[in-house]
Parts: sequence; C-alpha cells; structure tokens
Amino acid sequence: MNKSFSKVKSVKGELTFAGDKSISHRAIFFSSMANGKSVIKNISLSEDVKSTQKVFKELGVEFYYDKSDLIVTGLGKKNFLPPKNFLDCGNSGTTARLASGLLIAQNFSSTLIGDESLSKRPMQRVIEPLKLMGAKIESSNSTLPIIINPTDTLKPIEYDLPVASAQVKSSILIAGLHLSDQSKVIEKFITRDHTERMLELPVDTVGNRKIISTSEKFYPVAKEYFIPGDVSSSAFFIVLALLTNNSELIIKNVSLNPTRTGFIDILRKMDGNIQIENVKYSSNEPYGDIIVKSSALKNIRIDESIIPNIIDEIPILSVAGIFAEGIFEIRNCKELRYKESDRIKSICDNLKKAGLNVEEFEDGFCIEGEIKNNAVTFNSFNDHRIAMAFSILAMLIGNKSSVDGIECVSISNPDFYPQVKRVVNFN
Ligand code: S3P
Repeated sequence: MNKSFSKVKSVKGELTFAGDKSISHRAIFFSSMANGKSVIKNISLSEDVKSTQKVFKELGVEFYYDKSDLIVTGLGKKNFLPPKNFLDCGNSGTTARLASGLLIAQNFSSTLIGDESLSKRPMQRVIEPLKLMGAKIESSNSTLPIIINPTDTLKPIEYDLPVASAQVKSSILIAGLHLSDQSKVIEKFITRDHTERMLELPVDTVGNRKIISTSEKFYPVAKEYFIPGDVSSSAFFIVLALLTNNSELIIKNVSLNPTRTGFIDILRKMDGNIQIENVKYSSNEPYGDIIVKSSALKNIRIDESIIPNIIDEIPILSVAGIFAEGIFEIRNCKELRYKESDRIKSICDNLKKAGLNVEEFEDGFCIEGEIKNNAVTFNSFNDHRIAMAFSILAMLIGNKSSVDGIECVSISNPDFYPQVKRVVNFN
C-alpha cells in the first residue's frame, strides 16, 4: 500500500505509546518460563511481540487478556511441551535469537523458522556461543531454519561478544539460567540491558568492559510487569516535532532506559529542545515523560561507542541530519546491513531519490546538499523503521510525497498512522 502526505504545518499534543517492544518480548519470555500466573500491563501491540507469543503458545503456554492486561500462565523450568509445528518467529530477530538460547536447554527437538527477511539474517552469532555451551544445533547455512536437538551435557561459558548485540547477549544469558554454574557474557560496547535488569543479574564493570553473570539462581519467577511506552516508536515523532515550526509534543510514560535513549542525547547535542520529566521505575526500568519543542539543529560527530545504543534510530536520525546545519555522517554501523532490510542501502537509495548527495560506505553513509525533488515516492523495503522514517521525511517535503509498502509499520507500531493523525497538522 502507498501513502502520500501534504506538508506538515505543526506538531502539537500528547502521545502515549504501547509497551516497548524489547521489554515486551522479554516479559513474555520470562513469564512463560516462570511457574504460574504473571500479569503484563501495557504489552506491545507489535507483530513482532505477537510472534513471540505465538512461539510460546506452540510450547504449551496459555495467554488471555483481562481488559488490556495480558495474563500468562507460565509452565516452569523445562516444562514446555514439545511443539507439534515449526516455531514461526515471523519477522522478529529478537524472538528467534532469544528462543534459541531457551530451546537448547529443553528435552525435546524444535525447529525455528521465519519470514523471507528473517530467513536471510545471520544466526551464526547465536549458534557459535550456544554450541560452545554444548548445544546440538543444525542449520544449513547459518540462517533459519535451525533445528535444535536436546542434550544433557550443557556447560557454562565465558563469552566475549564479538558483535555488539543485545540479542546474542540475551540468548546466552537465557541459556545460562538452566545451569547451576555461572556463565558470563563480556561486552565492550554497551548494548540494551533489559535482560540483565529484568532478571536482576549481577553486573561488574572492569575497565571499559561490562561482565554479566547468569545461573539458575536467577531463573524468573511469576510476577506483574508494567511495560513503559516504546521509546523507539516515539523517536519518529520527536524528530518531526523538532524539525517543524510552532511545535510542542508531550510523550507520556515512555521508556527512558539509558541504553535506549542515545538518540535523545544526540538530538540534544544537535541543539534539540528536549526535556525529560517525572522519572519513575518499574521492573527496574526507568520511564517518564518527554517534552519536545521546535529547534534549529546542527550536525555533530557521532562516536562509535554510542552506535549500539542508537542502532534502531539511525534511519530517523538521518532524516534529522538532512535538515540540520552541516553534513550528516555516520560510520561504524555495518550492523545496519543485517537488520530487517540492509538499512544502509535502504536509507541511501531513498535519500538519492530526494536528490540529496549521498555517499555510501560499507559501514555507514554521508549526506550533503538539499532536497531537490519536491514530490518523491520512497520505498519501505518492507522494513518498518524505513517505512516510518521516510513517512516522516515525506511529511517534511509535502507535495504528496509518499511511501510504498507501508503495511510493515505494524511490525513495531500498528498505531503509527493513527498517531500521526492525532498530533500532526498538515497544510
Ligand atoms: C533488540 C536488539 C537489537 C535491536 C532490535 C531489538 C533486542 O538488535 O536492533 O531491534 O530486543 O534485544 P541487536 O542486538 O542484534 O543489535
């Protein structure tokens, strides 16, 4: 489906977002693994989180809604039922990689599959450490489908993460919850830390390295979760409000986990007027309100160490960069090539369509010049974050600029276009 836009006049009002996608995935994992009833408040409405739920349903976990609360009846350690069907992770890398860590410790065989995009994404990054733990995994070319067979000789590992990936880290930490001896994951670039926060795992810092320990002592128990709003979904609206005159937007009860708010730090350094208020905690996760006002932005140097922290927001940060003073350049983000689409290529192809001077590097890109085409049709590349970032750019250009293939926004935020309607005024 194609959607076209007039030019944005102002952004005004208040938005709340359904629960953060990363925290929601983990709340479903941990409450399914725990023994008995857990309650999840403000669960993400994303297709990705539905994929996680579907995998656990296939493993025998029961879910029902009490008003808007998701009630999960977890089965307890090693009590999942052998699946009758393949475990379909849909488009969700988090589902596939975290489930791999859980499934190596079960006493049945299972097969993880995914959609066309997920079936191309690298799985060797989890297969390698899980095999070091003794896992019996088969995969023909290190992608899905992967077959996981039972073993009773799993052993703990100490693993230095070769890629900055919270999914790989979490996969090992979840596997380690089934062993009495400690496993450790060591990271030199800090990735999102929801798994260690929610399981209250011990974390040590040695120099610039973070060491996270896991063992059966930390196996999850049934409890109540409140999931703060999805800060990555809010990023599109924050950038639009900053770039539009006469705008003021309030975002309530959104996740403020510091391993996720790197894009806010960058936008503030770019002179973005962003205030944070009413900070509270739930399940060890900070959340609060964000107030954004129109600002004149300037481009800055983006340091390598912040990349894992902004990895999902690079598409929308590049839109901010087009309208900021100076040249937007980002490097050290080759990981973007392994997301739902090759995001470096998707961003560069779309920006070229707008007439911008774009230089593509193996590990990033650079944008210069001004938008020359005043009615552009962008491609979503069937990637939710590309669809949303370029919908925002289409609103900033106007003249019925449009995005092809917008259905995929439901992978993270099915409410994206209704939210646009609520707070964006068009010419
Ligand atoms: C996620 C981790 C990130 C992120 C993804 C969600 C998670 O991926 O891009 O959207 O929930 O752990 P990587 O850890 O592979 O970088």
